[in-house]
Amino acid sequence: MIKNDLFLRALKGETVNRPPVWMMRQAGRYLPEFIAIREKYDFFTRCRTPELASEITVQPIRRYGMDAAILFSDILVIPQAMNIEVQMKPNFGPYLPNPVRTQKDVDNVIVPDVTAELDYVYQAIKATKELLNDDIPLIGFAGSPWTILCYCVQGQGSKTFDKAKEFCFTNPIAAHQLLQKITDTTIAYLKEKVKAGVNAVQIFDSWGGMLSPVDYQEFSWQYINQIIEALKEDAPVIAFGKGCWFALGDMAKSNASALGIDWTCSGRNARYLTGGNITLQGNFDPSRLLSPPSEIKKMVHQMINEFGKDKYIVNLGHGILPNIPLDHAKAFIDAVKEYSPS
Ligand code: CP3
Repeated sequence: MIKNDLFLRALKGETVNRPPVWMMRQAGRYLPEFIAIREKYDFFTRCRTPELASEITVQPIRRYGMDAAILFSDILVIPQAMNIEVQMKPNFGPYLPNPVRTQKDVDNVIVPDVTAELDYVYQAIKATKELLNDDIPLIGFAGSPWTILCYCVQGQGSKTFDKAKEFCFTNPIAAHQLLQKITDTTIAYLKEKVKAGVNAVQIFDSWGGMLSPVDYQEFSWQYINQIIEALKEDAPVIAFGKGCWFALGDMAKSNASALGIDWTCSGRNARYLTGGNITLQGNFDPSRLLSPPSEIKKMVHQMINEFGKDKYIVNLGHGILPNIPLDHAKAFIDAVKEYSPS
């Protein structure tokens, strides 16, 4: 049904001529057409208006022809729907004026009716599917419960998420209640996204690498795994944990269809740690897109050779940066399309 199904075939582990490619945060501030829309509408207006969200989603596809689109939205629409105020401040990032810090705060967090509360997301999915015309698959996403807790408790971005960790380690009972509420909401939300038309989902555990391997199991992975188990019949699930190479062995034993890898773990080591059977996605250093285009192409081909062309989805190791020149992003995508096995 989808004309270019390379991405879905790689998720199933099928043999392909070349791996599929997309970029995390591919709809973003490096694109002039994105900035033009950003100048007119604030962040959550863009998220909540299906015509805007769908247009932003397809902007990078029109320009570069990636093999998958990812819906323009944000992981923080989940805490918003759970009765936690979230603002997006220009040049600052997420700001939550009333962070969750006590048992009473956790009691006030609701598990919402995601059908009603997040209807604008499903409408954006439907609008995007029309624009995409079944040319390529559409990816839906959510933050991991731990990464969402980080923002809910810290109240803003952080290099250490020290307040989030303090909350977990001093009040683990309340922390687990909050994590479970986020997990239940996320499962219902992702199921609705699949019903609305997304072809795969990715879980972003952007701050999983803040935790020690033992704490990662307790505060992050067990909840991600609940989501994977709940979604596995609905759609392929990609689990991306930034800085979580230490957990790859356990992640590979799960029912995830693919695992995201950041650039601090080599392709060879990622294959070794995951046992060689599961599809991997990654892991170009986003800053390496600042290298000259000819060098980018060489490095991309080396990366494909290291991961192997099968059971592999080419991506960055984290989101694309705002200062990447347009022709460098193009070189990254083109390098994959020009790849032929040596
Ligand atoms: O990949 C895509 O192009 C789809 C869109 C997408 C956005 N956010 C749009 C966005 C996705 C997948 C996200 C996920 C997200 N949001 C994550 C996980 C992925 C990651 O990068 O680790 C996180 C941690 C967030 C929370 C968030 N939203 C932050 C920290 C920020 C500020 C970033 C900054 O540098 O200012 C946002 C805002 C945001 N979300 C922007 C975009 C394009 C930029 C602000 C804007 O457009 O006005």
